[in-house]
Amino acid sequence: GAPVEADISKLAPGEMMTVEWRGKPVWILRRTPEMLASLEHTESQVLDPTSEREQQPAYAKNQHRSIKPEYLVAVGICTHLGCSPSERFRTGAASGVSDDWQGGFFCPCHGSYFDLAGRVFRSMPAPSNLVVPPHKYLTDATIVVG
Ligand code: FES
Repeated sequence: GAPVEADISKLAPGEMMTVEWRGKPVWILRRTPEMLASLEHTESQVLDPTSEREQQPAYAKNQHRSIKPEYLVAVGICTHLGCSPSERFRTGAASGVSDDWQGGFFCPCHGSYFDLAGRVFRSMPAPSNLVVPPHKYLTDATIVVG
């Protein structure tokens, strides 16, 4: 499939947009400072904090799993059996999964939780973090996926 351009100039902090790449949804989430801070909090609760378990671009192998800390770019498909996780940005501890849950993504099929960097929580059926697709910045306002 051809690379896909995403215009992120209108994406406000805390908002997410989706572009389609190779028939898959690719999420682009502009994280707030609070969202980024939550990753420090979930660090000890995730299976693979620096994405060593699977093939990922080098720029995904850090706590925020992205080129620029503010923007998460990830394929919105559960790494368990391919369902569609949904965003849960404001659930806080009320989700019940863990006091350390800070919001992120929840897959309803078998109950996998991912943090705001797409990192899977411990003891969830999903075996690995959400996939970060190959991408780059054409300008500050344009991301090319693929
Ligand atoms: Fe997402 Fe099974 S497909 S938890």
